[in-house]
Amino acid sequence: MREHWKAEAAGYTEDRHWSSVDETVLSLLEITGSESLLEIGLGPGLVAQHLVNNYPKLEYYGLDVADFFLKMAASRMNQHANLLKADTRALPFQAQSFDRILEMDAIHHVPKEALPGVLREISRVLKPGGRLICAEDWAAPATDARTRLADSLQRRRPIVQKGWEYHPSENEWRRFFAAAQLQILREQRVDRPLNLDRFENLKGVQARSELTQLRELWAGDHPITTMTIFICRKN
Ligand SMILES: C[S@@+](CC[C@H](N)C(=O)[O-])C[C@H]1O[C@@H](n2cnc3c(N)ncnc32)[C@H](O)[C@@H]1O
Repeated sequence: MREHWKAEAAGYTEDRHWSSVDETVLSLLEITGSESLLEIGLGPGLVAQHLVNNYPKLEYYGLDVADFFLKMAASRMNQHANLLKADTRALPFQAQSFDRILEMDAIHHVPKEALPGVLREISRVLKPGGRLICAEDWAAPATDARTRLADSLQRRRPIVQKGWEYHPSENEWRRFFAAAQLQILREQRVDRPLNLDRFENLKGVQARSELTQLRELWAGDHPITTMTIFICRKN
């Protein structure tokens, strides 16, 4: 686990609450009961907890690179779950192993040049006809002052500047999916809460000024951002 993410993990966990986005993702998975499902980068395990505890016949596998999150997720389960430490760049599964794959806000944690390979790995372990739900922030185009400022601040974050994580635009995601033989069936944009404190440590006059403007624009309101959910099928 990279040190930068370790430092952020505790803050991320505090901010992460069950929301309508999780409800949406769950319904898009279209689980009937006994599918095999892989969740990549399960983090604190909110969705995992729901899946494992409510679908006893589901063959759930969750992976993450961070021991910290694997332990936290395991503590939420009231029955055994297959949780493993692995990197999304090299999935430790045979080809065509899963009916469903879920990744929410996880696979952008690799450099840009690694992303096509990540999508190829996902495609490899998904069964033909299988479904991928990929939910990612910072892909939707910025359309107003609030989203333009938030996008700009996000791009200024050191982990993004250093290329340790990369947020493709929706168009780039579409190209990555197509190259990995993953057909997009549908796309859905959903609002999710945005904690502006994530930008608090950014240095520089421009960043400070952008953050002040953004706080003013959201004054008295709960800041939100847009998440894009791609519903894909492996042909
Ligand atoms: C922003 S969190 C999202 C967690 C979870 N999906 C959720 O919605 O709460 C990103 C997660 O991806 C994991 N992650 C980062 N890089 C990864 C990699 N290369 N392979 C697998 N997991 C990774 C992190 O450890 C973290 O748990």
